[in-house]
Amino acid sequence: MTMSMMEIDQALKQLNLSGVRATLETRLIESQVSNLPFIETFSAILQDELDRRQSRLLERRFLLSGLDERTSLAEFDWSYNPKIPKRTCFELHTLKFIAEGDNALFIGPPGTGKSHIAKAVAYQATLQGYAVRYLEADVELARFGLESQAEQARMLRSCTEPDLIILDDLFLARRVSEAGAEFLQCLVHKRYKLRRSIVVTSNRIVQDWGKYLGDATMSTTILDRLMHHAAMLEFEGKSYRLKEAAARIAKSGSADS
Ligand SMILES: Nc1ncnc2c1ncn2[C@@H]1O[C@H](COP(=O)(O)OP(=O)(O)O)[C@@H](O)[C@H]1O
Ligand SMILES: [Mg+2]
Repeated sequence: MTMSMMEIDQALKQLNLSGVRATLETRLIESQVSNLPFIETFSAILQDELDRRQSRLLERRFLLSGLDERTSLAEFDWSYNPKIPKRTCFELHTLKFIAEGDNALFIGPPGTGKSHIAKAVAYQATLQGYAVRYLEADVELARFGLESQAEQARMLRSCTEPDLIILDDLFLARRVSEAGAEFLQCLVHKRYKLRRSIVVTSNRIVQDWGKYLGDATMSTTILDRLMHHAAMLEFEGKSYRLKEAAARIAKSGSADS
């Protein structure tokens, strides 16, 4: 017995075929109008379902990553700060370093694009099927000391399991609590043992990290593991934020006149 459209819709719902549900009507009209062979229409319908599942998977991976934007290397203006190591950025963007379990450190003044590039690499990794976790480093380190033991264990797990973690703007606040420093040490050690990648961005030169951690020995053991297999990228140049602000001022100035 042939199902009615409503019954078909109900069945698709039951079977969780939301991609088919979304496009079935269009495909039906298309097949009638163009007089398509059944197999052609059927394969288009299957492809719709596959496409929907793929895009949902990507969306889920992006949400789980904690990334707040989708940046890319294509929209980066490489001529603005020509000393930024462009080749190494593209090399990282190939994601080979994740397969190797290598790390990367982006060090340089504010506004030079460290977060932009780190997020672009992280986003690319989500597109390629890697589990990624993006963290504002200081927020996470400060939170650790305030949490219960169970939550601390969960935090540590969620920083150990992904294929890639981004610690963005490490030592922005200069001082890290004792618990925060231990958290950092623990996660660096664990990921080092598992050969899982970390990308760190920071405005602070590495030589000063001991000061912010309040413990020179700890800083040495953290850096030791972080830098063992790591690309060091120096972001030298002017703040792009200032350029944007200047452009805004110029624009509002010309609007006034
Ligand atoms: N060379 C560049 N080309 C295009 N946009 C840039 C460039 N450098 C920085 N930006 C943009 O300027 C803003 C600040 O950059 P960000 O990556 O947050 O700097 P940082 O993390 O080094 O402080 C962001 O919106 C970023 O997208
Ligand atoms: Mg930043």
